[in-house]
Amino acid sequence: MQAINIGILGLGTVGSGVLRLLRDHQKKISSITGRQLVVKKVVVHDIEKKRNLDLSGITVTDDVNELINDQDIQIVVEVMGTVKLAKDYIERLLRAGKHIITANKDLIATHGSELAELAGENHCDLFYEASVAGGIPILRTIVSSFAADRIIEVKGIVNGTTNYILTQMNQNNLPFEAALKSAQQLGFAEADPTNDVEGIDAAYKMIILTQFAFGMNVTLDDIKITGIRGIDLKDIKQAAELGYKIKLVGIAKLIDKRISVSVGPVLIPADQPLAAVQNENNAVLVTGAAVGETMFYGPGAGELPTANSVLSDIIAVTKDIVMKTTGSRFNEFSQEGQSAREQD
Ligand code: NDP
Ligand code: HSE
Repeated sequence: MQAINIGILGLGTVGSGVLRLLRDHQKKISSITGRQLVVKKVVVHDIEKKRNLDLSGITVTDDVNELINDQDIQIVVEVMGTVKLAKDYIERLLRAGKHIITANKDLIATHGSELAELAGENHCDLFYEASVAGGIPILRTIVSSFAADRIIEVKGIVNGTTNYILTQMNQNNLPFEAALKSAQQLGFAEADPTNDVEGIDAAYKMIILTQFAFGMNVTLDDIKITGIRGIDLKDIKQAAELGYKIKLVGIAKLIDKRISVSVGPVLIPADQPLAAVQNENNAVLVTGAAVGETMFYGPGAGELPTANSVLSDIIAVTKDIVMKTTGSRFNEFSQEGQSAREQD
């Protein structure tokens, strides 16, 4: 079977998960794509760092040029974070003809349109399913399953760290700082958790959701954003006594053909579905004029759930590559494909 070589930029929480899932499900993925996916090179910040990963056969480097100039690498996964540096690297990778998959919502929310244009000019895919709601396949769902409907509202819990903190404060009486530390240790928080707790990470995700659901571009300046730093154990207890839970909720809705987007703590009656979303889980409610209200629930952060979304993009890109090079789709429903899935 022909191989497709992949480069990964960043080998922290998400990058490690991508490597693990690719190795664990190699056979099944090949049966779906018709190609063997091989991680050839990984770029990290510190090449001396001890990593609890099998890196045999993979070149580990701190020089991004090794990805940019490698003609054999067709797909690059950016799971490094930051805006300026990641943008510079992705632009150079796109110009070199690499398809890009990223989990970087900060970058996509602020520069997504120009990167998409550059990707188009270079005949490359730019996919970012993992950038919103971690393991929930919400972007592809909005694109494909709401294509024949008119979306009126998208709202939900789209930050795992703050939902984890609020849940721990509520259930275990854990003070804010201790709950945040725990979220960091579990790999849910950003390298600098300021954006999580201040509601900015959720706002970035609402910018991307607004683009997908309404085709409208908004910026952070258009969004009223309040974080959860001001919430203490007393507030959570008082809310509980009155039958409510406090959740950080993002809302994007159409009002007279204009879009209103906000992020902030909301009191939710304890018997409502959003109140039952605990720890790092997320939930996104999409309301369509035809379908009514729908709800998508799952892990919003963490190694393997996020990696699974990245893998769904890798598979989609690989299928595009196969289609472009052979002129036909690999038949994943063939006998060959099905028996490989059984053996995985
Ligand atoms: P981590 O901090 O765990 O990992 C970052 C990785 O990038 C590390 O391997 C680090 O190298 C590498 N890196 C950092 N700076 C550089 C640099 N200048 N050059 C080369 N490599 C560099 O981040 P996460 O895995 O948690 O997150 C990655 C991205 O995914 C972010 O954009 C984040 O917002 C997004 N994301 C994260 C989720 C999560 O649950 N964690 C969920 C959804 C999206 P080294 O190991 O040597 O330090
Ligand atoms: N820090 C982010 C969160 C990671 O907690 O939701 C997932 O995007």
